[in-house]
Formats: sequence, structure tokens, C-alpha cells
Amino acid sequence: MTDVLLGLLLAAPVLLVTGGPVSVKDHNGTTPLVIWHGMGDNCCNPLSMGAVKKMLEEDIPGIHVLSLMVGKNMIEDTENGFFKDVNEQVSMVCSQLAQDPHLKGGYNAMGFSQGAQFLRAVAQRCPSPPMKTLISVGGQHQGVYGLPRCPGESSTVCDFIRKALNNGAYTELIQKHLVQAQYWHDPLNDDLYKKHSLFLADINQERVVNETYKKNLQLLEKFVMVKFLQDSMVDPVDSEWFGFLKSGQAKETETLQESVLYKEDRLGLAAMDAAGKLVFLATQGDHLQFTREWFNQNLLPYLR
Ligand SMILES: *[C@@H]1O[C@H](CO)[C@@H](O)[C@H](O)[C@H]1NC(C)=O
Ligand SMILES: *[C@@H]1O[C@H](CO)[C@@H](O)[C@H](O)[C@H]1NC(C)=O
Repeated sequence: MTDVLLGLLLAAPVLLVTGGPVSVKDHNGTTPLVIWHGMGDNCCNPLSMGAVKKMLEEDIPGIHVLSLMVGKNMIEDTENGFFKDVNEQVSMVCSQLAQDPHLKGGYNAMGFSQGAQFLRAVAQRCPSPPMKTLISVGGQHQGVYGLPRCPGESSTVCDFIRKALNNGAYTELIQKHLVQAQYWHDPLNDDLYKKHSLFLADINQERVVNETYKKNLQLLEKFVMVKFLQDSMVDPVDSEWFGFLKSGQAKETETLQESVLYKEDRLGLAAMDAAGKLVFLATQGDHLQFTREWFNQNLLPYLR
């Protein structure tokens, strides 16, 4: 008891100094950045998101980088990337961002792999605090139809996921509990996808056009999509630029601009394109493989 009290007393003056609203000046005039990791990864792995955070802090002195952790610790965060209802994850993140005093004036967001489509859902559903620029690094905006490789590959988790997806990605049980099923997009079963996909079909306006989503997404200053030209984990890789397989077959693909989504402008992407807000970048390399030089040249300018 006394230990606790002493701790509180000692901590109090420190809290007074660091608490309270954070002014822009504290961050050297930089815009804060929120990042969301990909599948099999977590917020703080020193070899991935931890390294990205460190790199950004070196390149943009003063920047506040928040690497999202979904769950109470790194292990839960990794597990949730496989097994936690995505709609719930998005709403958890929304409340976390709304409560973060650093982000009050707005923030940029950068999502890696599945973290990219999750952050787009944040932009569409939670306009406050405002997201300024969204960078999607290897995100799958039209989902995937196939899971050729998993990060690390060693994991038996991957085999389990493949089996579950083959056994019925659109059953309620699997939709609720398997993250990858929530962006599984089967072009041979378009009706099933539209009807039962709890996450992707919703944010992609497949059932109805939610005008709120359309309005909110267009609040972005830029929506940057990075595609990896030798990507061996995302199938089809066109999804990284919001393209996909044409409905009814699994061979021919169509670009975003050729899609109904764009032609009917159900999500505001055509309007954003016309306003110069969509940026399509391509880079050599497998999934999420980029050099610091490429990053600094191509992505850093959007984050300064
Ligand atoms: C603020 O930014 C300038 C210019 O980028 C940099 O030289 C300086 O070191 C930064 N200051 C802090 C406290 O990070
Ligand atoms: C549209 O999206 C908003 C924000 O997430 C939500 O509150 C609303 O219920 C949605 N409307 C429909 C018709 O789905």
C-alpha cells in the first residue's frame, strides 16, 4: 500500500509536466503518423514496425509516431491480426485515436498489408480526428483470392487459415473469427461475397452506398497506394492498386478505373482521382520489401 502511494506521489510532478494538451510546437511542426502493421506482425517488432518507427523518427525530427497495438501486448496484437473481428478492431482503433491528445489536429496514416485496408476503414468510419494522408503499403483494397504464402511461411497457422477459407470463407463463424476471411473476395461467388463479407464488402460499398463512407474518404488530402511488382503473398497483386479479378472468373483482372465501383463512383474514388488525390506507386520487390532509399524518395515527401 505504502509502495503504491509513494509511487503515485513520485509520479505526480512528472505527470504535471508531461500532461495536458500537446501543442504543435512540441512536435517541431510535424504531422503525427499512425501506423498499422500487417498479418503475422505486431506493433513493436524491432525488425519491422519498430524499425520503421525508428527510421521515421530519424528522418523527420520531432515526429510523433503511433504504432498501433490491438490488444494488451505484442502477442495478443499478433494473434488479433489473425483471429479478431476486423470491425471490432477498427472500432477499438477509432476510440484509441479519438482519445489521443497528440492527434487532435489531425494525423497521417500508413498501413502495411492488411493494416492498410483496416486504416481505410478508419478513414471512412471515423472522421475525427481527421486523417490527412493515407499511405497503403501493399494493402489489399479489393481483398484476396488465394493466400499463396504467409509471412515467415513456417507457421502452421497459414495452413489452418487456408483450410478454413476453403471450407467456407463466407460462413458466419469463419467471417467472425478469421481476419483473412473478412477480406476474402471470391470472384466465382460474387453474390456470396457481397451478401456475407462482413468487412470488405461493407467498406467497399458492395451492398449499399453509404454516403458517409463516401464523404469521409474524400476528406483525405491524398490516398497513396504502393504495389510490389514481385509480390508473392498477395493474390491478385492488382488489389494493391484497388483492382481485382473480373467477376465470374479467376483469370482476367480489371483496374480500379475499369470497375463498377469507380464507374458508378460508389466510394468517391473517381472524384478523388479527378482531384489528383490518388497516387499509384509501384516498386520492385516482394511483399513489403523496400529499401530505405526508395522509402525516403517516394513516401517521405507525403509525411513531412
Ligand atoms: C526540428 O526540425 C529541424 C528541421 O528539420 C531540425 O533541424 C531540428 O533538429 C528539429 N528539432 C527537434 C527538436 O527535433
Ligand atoms: C454508414 O456508416 C456510418 C459510419 O460508420 C454508420 O454509422 C451507418 O450506420 C452506416 N449506414 C449504413 C446504411 O450502413
